[in-house]
Amino acid sequence: MSDNNPKIHLVVGARPNYIKANPVYQALEELNQFDLKLINTGQHYDHNMSSLFFDELGMKSPDIDLEVGSGRHGKQTAKILERYEKVLYDDTPDLVIVFGDVNSTIACSLAAVKLHIPTSHVEAGLRSFDRTMPEEINRILTDQISDLLFITCPNAADNLTKEGISEAKIHFVGNTMIDSLVQFLPHFERSSIQDKLGVTKPYALLTFHRPSNVDNEINLAKLVRALEETTALLNCIFPIHPRTRKMLKEYGLLDALESNPRFFITEPIGYTDFMCLQKKADIVLTDSGGIQEESTFFSIPCLTIRDNTERPITITQGTNKVIGTSYNNIPTEVKGVLSEKIDTNRCPELWDGKAAKRISKIISTWFN
Ligand code: UD1
Ligand code: UDP
Repeated sequence: MSDNNPKIHLVVGARPNYIKANPVYQALEELNQFDLKLINTGQHYDHNMSSLFFDELGMKSPDIDLEVGSGRHGKQTAKILERYEKVLYDDTPDLVIVFGDVNSTIACSLAAVKLHIPTSHVEAGLRSFDRTMPEEINRILTDQISDLLFITCPNAADNLTKEGISEAKIHFVGNTMIDSLVQFLPHFERSSIQDKLGVTKPYALLTFHRPSNVDNEINLAKLVRALEETTALLNCIFPIHPRTRKMLKEYGLLDALESNPRFFITEPIGYTDFMCLQKKADIVLTDSGGIQEESTFFSIPCLTIRDNTERPITITQGTNKVIGTSYNNIPTEVKGVLSEKIDTNRCPELWDGKAAKRISKIISTWFN
């Protein structure tokens, strides 16, 4: 590597970012043409929401840690913006790469663009068309100010061009979250997490962390009641996101879950164990973005407890069904899905484990 190599910052901050960024870091490193730095904003900071993933993915330690922690949107976004801007003054890169749709994504791309540093967005163009979701605002704004937009599905290009973004900036490359899945697939087979938890099949894997589901007491109570009814059909493994645990405690709902022997309640689980549980699950109930995609890849039925999805390809070419947020329909929907035969031959185009390599090639050409 020479001193004249272009400098690239890759920005991560929250759990799904590490999984999406690691393959891109690896693919760029392989080219041996760039001076790479990994920037961690510290939006997530618990061991099992951050450093555990660095360890499991074999990711290098961040070169710079902004240690922003939690906070309301304004405070957290502002803190990231202020701290990353300082980094950019001290060590100006030629390109900043951001991932997904979290507060770290918009804050760092905004810091960069104001200093006229080109920005690239991995997972651009996804739209739920629901502006009450903080992620939707982050997506729209990040895409507007990015110079290179890497998309996971053709429909994202339509969303972007409708917002006036030039086709020349858009590159359909596939899905880097699926790159990680493909890379670590052999590890999932070796996990003994199911035995450790002592859970027998059939089981559902549950994850919930969207503010609309977990921050509102009435909604969260309805969700918990529906999940309790669902345990009449199968066991339920529920690794609880820190936001959700906090709200379950605050609303006095955690004890009911913990005392039900059909619930297997855990802290957030590491990547390998979580993916093993997902791969073997009979059904996934979630409001996560990434898990809608992973379950599609695994051909595991997924019920998304939301009113919309920014990932419609997981419905049209996958195993996802968006069932809304009335909650009381959950047991019936689970019953229905379990009795259906799933088409296992569908997988979205270019979700093949090679998206990051396509990205690195495009970035290399872009610099030349
Ligand atoms: C964030 C993202 C969301 C993403 C999710 C992935 C935004 C606006 N939201 O949501 O898009 O789907 O990450 O998991 O960027 N907390 C801890 N320990 C941690 C992290 C969080 O205890 O390591 C608790 C804190 O009480 C915090 C709350 O969780 O206030 C929410 O964290 P935050 O990062 O603001 O949002 P998430 O719900 O994690
Ligand atoms: N995940 C994990 N352990 C868990 C829950 C999720 O490893 O206990 C992984 C999951 O497989 C997926 C990613 O974290 O790859 C998704 O993160 P999350 O649902 O927090 O974020 P979203 O995708 O909704 O932004």
